Amino acid sequence: MFDMGKLNVGDKHEFYEQLNTNLTGLVSEEDWLAGIANASALLYLLLPDINWAGFYLYKGGELVLGPFQGKPACIRIPLGKGVCGTAAKTRKIQVVDDVNQFPGHIACDASSQSEIVIPIIKDDKLIGVLDIDSQIKARFDQQDANGLSKFVDILRNNMDWPDIIASGQSDS
Ligand code: SME
Repeated sequence: MFDMGKLNVGDKHEFYEQLNTNLTGLVSEEDWLAGIANASALLYLLLPDINWAGFYLYKGGELVLGPFQGKPACIRIPLGKGVCGTAAKTRKIQVVDDVNQFPGHIACDASSQSEIVIPIIKDDKLIGVLDIDSQIKARFDQQDANGLSKFVDILRNNMDWPDIIASGQSDS
């Protein structure tokens, strides 16, 4: 059994160092689905002031809900739609201070106020996105973007993704 322990948080940089060390221990199993399921649990457990954390996976030309923690969410998101679809299409991290001001934002939980979405790209192919919502406005900043980019790097580099990449998901 993995022992999470408590994070001894000094500042955000230190928080993400510790979070990402915990993640590295969790994903040594290498099964990608198990890995991202545990990754969503880890985020939901340890990130303060969030109300949803999970993954959308790129399947058949759209994003489909993957492992997550939080309220039930919309199942399919077209590329280019909402914060997730924008991150997936542009392949750029989206940090949204106020989701109500984001054109086309998809509200899965009315209490969500801010959001960060990190695209997951491997071998130039879109795997999906990591999506985190907060009930507080402007919850996420550049330090969160940096820390969560490393979080996604660990997922991308430490697990086998051959079946998901080979399942006709290429967005080329
Ligand atoms: N708000 C997202 C949809 C997913 S939920 O937040 C879980 C979006 O606009 O893409």
